[in-house]
Amino acid sequence: MRDRLGRNIDYLRISVTDRCNLRCVYCMPAEGVSYRAHGEILSYEEIVHLVSAGAKLGIRRLRLTGGEPLVRTGITELIKQLKAIPGIEDLSLTTNGILLTPLAEGLKAAGLNRVNISLDTLRPERFAAITRCDGLEAAIRGIKAALTAGLNPVKINTVALRGVNDDEIADLAALTLKYPLHVRFIEVMPLGADVAWAKNHALPLAEVKAKVESVGRLVPATVTGAGPAQAFRYAAGLGTVGFIGALSHGFCSRCNRLRLTADGKLKPCLASDEEVDVKQALRQGAGEEELKALFLRALDLKPSQHQLQQYEEHERIMCQIGG
Ligand code: 5AD
Ligand code: SF4
Repeated sequence: MRDRLGRNIDYLRISVTDRCNLRCVYCMPAEGVSYRAHGEILSYEEIVHLVSAGAKLGIRRLRLTGGEPLVRTGITELIKQLKAIPGIEDLSLTTNGILLTPLAEGLKAAGLNRVNISLDTLRPERFAAITRCDGLEAAIRGIKAALTAGLNPVKINTVALRGVNDDEIADLAALTLKYPLHVRFIEVMPLGADVAWAKNHALPLAEVKAKVESVGRLVPATVTGAGPAQAFRYAAGLGTVGFIGALSHGFCSRCNRLRLTADGKLKPCLASDEEVDVKQALRQGAGEEELKALFLRALDLKPSQHQLQQYEEHERIMCQIGG
């Protein structure tokens, strides 16, 4: 699937729920969001039907996101079904890790290749402040369970926040010396409940990189599915560190993805309010050709680049799109 700008779109990010067991400040409001009723969310059968059509057009890689994907029951079964779709080569999951420990082995056995786990701090009180919930210990156990289960690579997503975790960037990067983890520092995007908060806590990647370099010299590295991250490693490192400059426009020209929201809309871009309703078509019994046409419509709506640095409000917040 090539878009108007010649970008090859082979990656679909699927939000399976807008629910989450945490309330991260850069994502959700403290009181949570009003969740969609179960009937408004695509069923697993509908997701599989849609992805089968997408695979015919060239979708090769999938990522499940949320909210928190592991709060939806039966997720392991969905993974098994998605992995069995002809053409699907790579399946990954983005999670906060809290529920991962008992599920990791089964997810791996079902065909999950790899996992990205959010971790912004190594300090319990700070974890509670950022996520407005306790759970650092569970998240860290989840990370270890992912490594033990043989999910590979295990990536860590760290949102870099001025005045919040800027004094821990070096410690988080140093995890890659001891563990085969791939820690990626992400610029905070103004897509959460509180856009002003994101603006006030933005930490440019140049500053983050300087802190990471204080641990040791970096050499370029490669990681499976590196997407928009620039990856490096320390000479003695077991893992890698990466930088995702979400605001600094570097990667829109190489964008490879579409998104599916839990309530059944295809989105051309994380930062675009455009969406194509696929739920209605699915519920009216659309066949493969009709679904393929909806993918192509979403493809056509892909902007050349996002305008996130303008700090505008958007219609959906992060957990309603899938990070
Ligand atoms: N800016 C950057 N990253 C975000 N995430 C959630 N909200 C934001 C934001 N506003 C990331 C989290 C998590 C993934 C689901 O999305 O770090 O890893
Ligand atoms: Fe939940 Fe992820 Fe949003 Fe945090 S960033 S509230 S873990 S969906």
